[in-house]
Amino acid sequence: MEPRRMLLSVTVVLMLISSACGENPGLQLVLNNKGLQYGKHVGAGWIQDKLELITLPDINGEVDLRTLGTVYYTLSGINIVQCDFPEPSVEFYKDATGFKSSILGLSVAIEGEWRTHYGIIKDHGSFNMALLSVDVTSIVNLGKDPEGRLSVTSASCDAQVGDVNIHFHGGASWIIQRFVNYFKGHIKGEIEGKICPDVEQSIVMLEDSLQAMNVSFDVNQDLNIDLPLSGLPIIDASSLNLGLKGEFLSIKTPKVPPFDAQPFTIPEQPSYMLSMGLSEYTLNSASYGYYSAGLLKALINDSMIPPRSPVHLNTSSMGPFIPQLPKLFPDLLMNLQVSATDFPLFSFLPGVVDLGIQGGVMAFAIQKNGTETALFELKVDTKFSSQVWIAGGKLKGSLKMNNFTLTLASSKVGPFETDKLEGLGRMAIQLVVTNLNEKLGEGVVLPRMRQAQLVNTVLEVEKGFIAVFSDAQVLMADEDFN
Ligand SMILES: *[C@@H]1O[C@H](CO)[C@@H](O)[C@H](O)[C@H]1NC(C)=O
Ligand SMILES: *[C@@H]1O[C@H](CO)[C@@H](O)[C@H](O)[C@H]1NC(C)=O
Ligand SMILES: *[C@@H]1O[C@H](CO)[C@@H](O)[C@H](O)[C@H]1NC(C)=O
Ligand SMILES: *[C@@H]1O[C@H](CO)[C@@H](O)[C@H](O)[C@H]1NC(C)=O
Ligand SMILES: *[C@@H]1O[C@H](CO)[C@@H](O)[C@H](O)[C@H]1NC(C)=O
Repeated sequence: MEPRRMLLSVTVVLMLISSACGENPGLQLVLNNKGLQYGKHVGAGWIQDKLELITLPDINGEVDLRTLGTVYYTLSGINIVQCDFPEPSVEFYKDATGFKSSILGLSVAIEGEWRTHYGIIKDHGSFNMALLSVDVTSIVNLGKDPEGRLSVTSASCDAQVGDVNIHFHGGASWIIQRFVNYFKGHIKGEIEGKICPDVEQSIVMLEDSLQAMNVSFDVNQDLNIDLPLSGLPIIDASSLNLGLKGEFLSIKTPKVPPFDAQPFTIPEQPSYMLSMGLSEYTLNSASYGYYSAGLLKALINDSMIPPRSPVHLNTSSMGPFIPQLPKLFPDLLMNLQVSATDFPLFSFLPGVVDLGIQGGVMAFAIQKNGTETALFELKVDTKFSSQVWIAGGKLKGSLKMNNFTLTLASSKVGPFETDKLEGLGRMAIQLVVTNLNEKLGEGVVLPRMRQAQLVNTVLEVEKGFIAVFSDAQVLMADEDFN
């Protein structure tokens, strides 16, 4: 092959490989078989309630009575009187990357009106019908649309009606009843033929509502989260795994984080309905979002220092730490401009979440006429470690400061030792950590939707990700489902 063409084909192959592998998900959601069976149980109850409210389409047909001619009939106003609803079965179906659901041995009692016309003779009455041994099997395929939404399509559907029993009442029903065996096969076929299009129609409706979903949401006024699927759904015999991008972006200054999501595998926990994995990447993208939007900064002035504090933000009070300061700028209030110099970096290790924050502090003296005079600049390096867990439906945590170092970056008041100031800073942060731990100990209530809540939830910090295992409980009232 000539070199240029070879290069071209190598490039094409590389492009194919990279697009086939996709990007690593930042979030993963796993539906275990236990969750699928619970969902089916809730869904089946709902379908049973709904079935008794629906009106079925009319059935039209004709019976050829040989020499006597043809009778045209219509069955209309058909509704379900009773439905013997055996527990359906639903399973993960690897071959179609989806689900296989079936209901076998369904019996349905229906009633309605009949009308016939035979030449110029018209007649009508009512009927009862039993549909016996109805079997329906549907296979749906899960996929991903170009925007990263979950898509669902019907892969196959099969419906069989074992037998029908019909009783006609009113009019000349006694005559029709005698010919039942001539046309009951047609009615059975008509009904069989209507089941799968109905099933497929409801799959299309489900697909339409999936298509209407957003793949990106505003979390608050500053951050937006991007949640398209990062790859095709993965199905095996016991679970469905959805990988989502899970990337936070600043709303005002959306900038893609300069780091990538790493692959991770959530341990299998089939005794829980759901598993969720939150990667370091997702949390750090939020951190990067806040940082790149310039939101990680604060101004500290003396009115924020507790009145009882022995040290205040004024030049005289700083004498023991920076001896020359009160001499150069006597009796002036001070301001501190604190800001992150890089995005705070979270790392997940078994059992612990580490957090490193690098920041800078610029100190100013406030002159009597209001002018701020720059004094010095410090570089601050802090490391925290924390534990997080879920108890009593609340997310709780505890935080510990592991390291705090302070170095002088520049000074307009001459050099000074930072040891004492470092001790002061450590004390101040320790105070904040103590306050924060009180709140973290109380915990925050886990998000709860109107229709469902998580129960028996546990959280584990693993290398590179946090895994949450949970059962769910559907709370919805019937009308909420629509
Ligand atoms: C999707 O997002 C758009 C714009 O942010 C919003 O107007 C719309 O209501 C959202 N739709 C849903 C179903 O949340
Ligand atoms: C300190 O800052 C707060 C909020 O930014 C402000 O309300 C207050 O007036 C300031 N106090 C002083 C003494 O500058
Ligand atoms: C400075 O702080 C000290 C307490 O550390 C206080 O006694 C003094 O009045 C303060 N001076 C000014 C100018 O606020
Ligand atoms: C405010 O006071 C300082 C120190 O006394 C002085 O250097 C500065 O020029 C003054 N600024 C204004 C705007 O008066
Ligand atoms: C704290 O940080 C300093 C400087 O970064 C480092 O030399 C020291 O080993 C760290 N101490 C701990 C306990 O991590």
